[in-house]
Amino acid sequence: MLQDRFGRSIEYLRLSVTDRCDLRCSYCIPKGFKDFEEPENWLTFDEIERVVAAFVSLGTRRVRLTGGEPLLRRDLPQLAGRLAALPGLQDLSLTTNATQLARHADALYRAGVKRVNVSLDSLRRECVNTITGRDSLPQVMAGLEAARAAGLSPIKINMVAMKDVNEADIETMVGFCIDNGFVLRLIEAMPMGDSGRNTAYLDLQPVLEQLRQRFGLLPQSSEMGGGPARYWRSADGAFTLGVITPISQHFCATCNRVRLSVDGTLYMCLGQEESFELRPLLRSGISDEGLLDAIRQAIELKPERHEFRENPGKLIRIMSMTGG
Ligand code: 5AD
Ligand code: SF4
Repeated sequence: MLQDRFGRSIEYLRLSVTDRCDLRCSYCIPKGFKDFEEPENWLTFDEIERVVAAFVSLGTRRVRLTGGEPLLRRDLPQLAGRLAALPGLQDLSLTTNATQLARHADALYRAGVKRVNVSLDSLRRECVNTITGRDSLPQVMAGLEAARAAGLSPIKINMVAMKDVNEADIETMVGFCIDNGFVLRLIEAMPMGDSGRNTAYLDLQPVLEQLRQRFGLLPQSSEMGGGPARYWRSADGAFTLGVITPISQHFCATCNRVRLSVDGTLYMCLGQEESFELRPLLRSGISDEGLLDAIRQAIELKPERHEFRENPGKLIRIMSMTGG
């Protein structure tokens, strides 16, 4: 098992397969942003499979495909199939904005992706247009429908809650998720890059308190999802809520993950700069044993916690670069 200096087991890898996206969510990619990675620096499927296999041999049990928007990477279901086939990997999931999910849901499911998280911040078409910079709601809805039809389960909705922007939409979103059997995850905006910093932060503690009383929510064991979200469920089981509160209540002490970006950089923390470049090693013919050593060395760099609150100006990297 991989362990960092603070005794945390690292068993979860988030894999960004592209830093590009067809949307421009206001909290993520700044308008006019052009600084995307050159294709020659993208890890190939062979390189990705090799790195993931190394992680799996070191005890990683779960991998999530992310971006940017992962479905922009050509033949993603093919990569998913190769990763799902690695012995020892137990859970392969996907985070997507769902604009292209309708086309790919079946193939992804057949390849071995069993569950998806879909980013959706409102059910008002105008509001989605304002937040994402595109009239994307109809496509996202079609994507969700296709995901359900394909058998992907659970389907979780990631909603970044923003003061005044979509705060008032939480209620409708709750109803929508109950009606469709989706899990709702409310997320506090993080000050990643200027785009993240300029986002109207909403403290989710009072929101959680209200929803808790209204639906009689009971806390679920931290096992569910195995990530930073704390989950709550209504007594009748009809509504499951996750809250991700990196700002109002950070969860760094139980962090179990690292992130691999499309250019082969391992990022140790969403909110810090510590990183380790694997691409040069992969392209200079490193041995399998050497690769395992490099990963162990990288994990040694993992910092204790982010400083989003104490030092919000620190991070210039945006989410789509690291892999959300
Ligand atoms: N703060 C919080 N969440 C963010 N995401 C992207 N940028 C930010 C940010 N600055 C979210 C997306 C997606 C998830 C992977 O990360 O909405 O659902
Ligand atoms: Fe694209 Fe996701 Fe960033 Fe929105 S949050 S711009 S969908 S990568």
